[in-house]
Amino acid sequence: MPSKTKQKLNVKKLTQLLDVIRDRRSVRSFDPGDRVPRETLEQIADAGRWAPSGANSQPWEICIIEDPQRVQEVASVMASQADRLNEHCKGFPHVHKKHWVHDSVAILAVFVDPRWADTYPVALEEDLDRTEYMENRSNILLVSAGAAIQNLQLATTAVGLTSAWLSGGGEPQTALELQKLLSFPSSHIPYGIVPIGWPRRKAESRWRRPIDEVVHWNGAIEANLRTQEDIDHYLAKERRHSIYKDAEARQQHLDRLPSDGEIDPVDDGNH
Ligand SMILES: Cc1cc2nc3c(=O)[nH]c(=O)nc-3n(C[C@H](O)[C@H](O)[C@H](O)COP(=O)(O)O)c2cc1C
Repeated sequence: MPSKTKQKLNVKKLTQLLDVIRDRRSVRSFDPGDRVPRETLEQIADAGRWAPSGANSQPWEICIIEDPQRVQEVASVMASQADRLNEHCKGFPHVHKKHWVHDSVAILAVFVDPRWADTYPVALEEDLDRTEYMENRSNILLVSAGAAIQNLQLATTAVGLTSAWLSGGGEPQTALELQKLLSFPSSHIPYGIVPIGWPRRKAESRWRRPIDEVVHWNGAIEANLRTQEDIDHYLAKERRHSIYKDAEARQQHLDRLPSDGEIDPVDDGNH
């Protein structure tokens, strides 16, 4: 029996939400500018607070860093993290430029307490727990944190600021430095560091896979699933352009790609 309440889709609100979602870009350079009122920063944090989480565990603490001296200290930690990444990991050519974090008007650090994974399903039989549930508890914890971090970014976009999502806080050395600096205990891992700033320019568009490739109506369309070859190609030829370039520049790069076996042209660092 259909309910008596009027069923009406609010397409207008959906369109407005999609605008904010599409406008959110990882922007890795900020214009230095006025400080943002605490009230606004708290509203942004509130968006994180309202994120869904496994078992409603809310396994996060959202640390708002807005004291200018403290912002510089956190930025320095992230700059060192970026330098280490640049030295030890391949394929992230711009990470050493992370010193832009120093231009943040605020930085949100999302600390996650993994002990809250105990509130997710645990099998009474140890063996079954290990094979079936244990790993998924970590997944639930991390995707919950991700939902909160994304909410922070969307709220930041909605108010006309811009942000990036830095995951290096999950690396042990950086975690330790941030815990010490911000007085968090070792149980709390800063998986999400979100520098916030004033946009230097309108954020460019970024490549997304086409909708009819990503969406599978009522079951997988096998031809649209990506293969190991696609992953290998992405790693060898596409990744840095997909992360740091706008969609058009990325496409131009792909159109110019040398035939297999030749070396990928060196990235010029503009983004
Ligand atoms: C879990 C996660 C970790 C990320 N870590 C970093 C990071 O450490 N540094 C960075 O510059 N961007 C990071 N990003 C941003 C992605 O590179 C970015 O979202 C992606 O390239 C798509 O670009 P867009 O955000 O502008 O749409 C991260 C994003 C996610 C979701």
